[in-house]
Amino acid sequence: MIARRRTIAFAAAHQPKAIALSYALSFTATDPAALWAEAADAAAALVAGEPDAIANMANVAALIWQAVPDLNWAGFYRFDGTELVLGPFQGKAACIRIPLDKGVCGAAARLRATQRVEDVHAFPGHIACDAASRSELVVPIVAEGRLIGVLDLDSPSPARFTADDQAGAEALIVRIAAALAG
Ligand code: SME
Repeated sequence: MIARRRTIAFAAAHQPKAIALSYALSFTATDPAALWAEAADAAAALVAGEPDAIANMANVAALIWQAVPDLNWAGFYRFDGTELVLGPFQGKAACIRIPLDKGVCGAAARLRATQRVEDVHAFPGHIACDAASRSELVVPIVAEGRLIGVLDLDSPSPARFTADDQAGAEALIVRIAAALAG
């Protein structure tokens, strides 16, 4: 397999003083488990010390978008106590509100269980925000027993997400869940 190298460079703009604090994060892994481990390390570094959940979701959505290949949508839906509401994401404009009894996202939130869907066309109630989506991985975000929302990844390729992708995405979310809770 050809080694991939993706780099994210960013500065900690939230620093109150003009401290020249910058990072260059590289994603060099060629297998999904190692790639997700790199992404989790990078995500943990991105959210460290930042209490704003929206800012953290925005950065993590961008990080996953750059690190993980073959996605057409990557982002968050936030639970407002009643339903899921669109949060920070990368990709095409998407459905804004998703009831917990609708779609792949609703199922992940309601059941508090990851939904890994090989063929979205075969999933009853799938919500087609982007017609290009063929497979989907939705990971619930729970912090201190409270449902925060979901991480939603869409791919234009059928059966794009493996068990390794699921385990990696779940581990990333568990690691940074508190920083997404606000
Ligand atoms: N497909 C999702 C809706 C969200 S979009 O994919 C961004 C679902 O069925 O819940």
